[in-house]
Amino acid sequence: MPERYDDRPDRARGVARRRVLGIGGALGLMAATGLSASAALARRPSFTGAELRSAVPLPPPFQVPLPIPSVLAPAGTSGGVDRYEITQREATAEILPGVRTPLWTYEGTFPGPTIESRRGRPITVTHRNELPVPTVVHLHGGRTPAASDGYPTDLVLPEGRHDAATHTGHGSTHDMHDPRAVVTKLTRDYTFPLDQRPALLWYHDHRMDFTAPAIWRGLAGLHIVRDDAEDNLGLPAGRRELPLMLTDRAFAADGTLAYPALDPTLRERPGVRDPYLAGVLGDVILVNGAPWPVHEVDAARYRLRILNASNARHYELEVVTDDGRRLDLVQIGADQGLLATPVTHRLLPLAPAERHDVVIDFSGVPVGGRVRLVNRLGSGRTRDVMAFRIARKATDDSRIPRILSTDLPTWRRSDAVRVRDFSFRTGRMRGDHGWLIDGLPFDPARSDVTTRLGDIEVWRLIADVHHPVHLHLVGFRILSRGGGPPLPHDAGLKDTVSLRPGESAEIITRFDGYRGRYLFHCHNAEHEDMGMMANLEII
Ligand code: C2O
Ligand code: CU
Ligand code: CU
Repeated sequence: MPERYDDRPDRARGVARRRVLGIGGALGLMAATGLSASAALARRPSFTGAELRSAVPLPPPFQVPLPIPSVLAPAGTSGGVDRYEITQREATAEILPGVRTPLWTYEGTFPGPTIESRRGRPITVTHRNELPVPTVVHLHGGRTPAASDGYPTDLVLPEGRHDAATHTGHGSTHDMHDPRAVVTKLTRDYTFPLDQRPALLWYHDHRMDFTAPAIWRGLAGLHIVRDDAEDNLGLPAGRRELPLMLTDRAFAADGTLAYPALDPTLRERPGVRDPYLAGVLGDVILVNGAPWPVHEVDAARYRLRILNASNARHYELEVVTDDGRRLDLVQIGADQGLLATPVTHRLLPLAPAERHDVVIDFSGVPVGGRVRLVNRLGSGRTRDVMAFRIARKATDDSRIPRILSTDLPTWRRSDAVRVRDFSFRTGRMRGDHGWLIDGLPFDPARSDVTTRLGDIEVWRLIADVHHPVHLHLVGFRILSRGGGPPLPHDAGLKDTVSLRPGESAEIITRFDGYRGRYLFHCHNAEHEDMGMMANLEII
């Protein structure tokens, strides 16, 4: 039996200070507040959040061509380290035809430029902040030393606003001082060793309290790690490998992105207005920054590397031909790279921050035909995601090997040196609505989880509503869901697990790589900003 580790003293102090009622394991918390897991399960809604309505006319679907974010060229190489430079700045883009939308961007585009790296070949990225607010960059899914992981108070201050120092924006009465924060002026170098499995990662802003609106305004980009073994598998490649970043947005009458921030300057007061406290959804679906785009394809296999970069929207993806046939989604990879063997789906759920690597075979669709990528959880216009138009017959020498990878960790329950429980649920935070982990809102100064480098642990997570739970630094495997076996799309190595309303899940991981201060949090970006984050210290 694994020894049970309990860091209750830290938490008990925090609870007393914040007058939060109810302490104990995840199930105890739910019982104390009258929400039973089975009641939540019975009501299980298909989404968590509220949808904003755009105030401009929306284009018809499948007219705008799918953009592919440009791949960033290194500014130089020295000592085997590729050096990249990214300027964070305001820019204007024509997202909806004829509508000009101001954005916050990496290098002037949304999504930002894609970085393509090789496993084990380190890179540095120099970020320069020319935005009107502090920023901090996190490489999601990266196995990154703590100093470059983008801790939410490790801010890069913009010109002329060096006052923000190490105070976060909880409003004048609630300033939190984080003595460990490393704050720089204007620029910061982030170092990524990339000693990790090849995978689709993404980089995004991670500023304390303001991550959700910053991503919403455009601060997100892709990062693809590759290696020779994966290149040699014969998977669809080149033009037939498409990264797809899914986001939803809403547009105000003046063309700006609508967002219900309490403080539209995104400087002082975090959080969003009622009724968006559970998450902000938009009524326009963007793929790589384009509304309901269309892409011309060969009648051949394509590899789609799909990221849900939406703040709160969940997808249940389905691929449908115009004559009503459903095509298989052959999943070859998860958040942290290739599966051991392919898994065939008809319907593929995708929570915020999750990635699925899938192969779709268009060879059975007649030339001139159309195939739609549909979100079964959407309604009306948000049911459509994008379309593929089959442009021509083509030869196809790609393949999907029966064995994709042999290096997945095989941690067993009995390997774990401890088990921890965490509840993810709604509660009060500083007198307001908040989202809490084990009854507590995020505090950079508190110690939540401390573990030793190399330890294997089982974490039992339980949710009230949808909570996609993400761990920094490590990938994990999903051991169980709701007391039963994992779902078919839970295979492989994950860094985000989607808990559905009332659901519990067990994950197992080894805290490996680097020592230092990391995080785990809900990746519903509004929940994350409203408290649902905790410290993960590896010693
Ligand atoms: Cu994608 Cu802590 O984040
Ligand atoms: Cu992350
Ligand atoms: Cu959440």
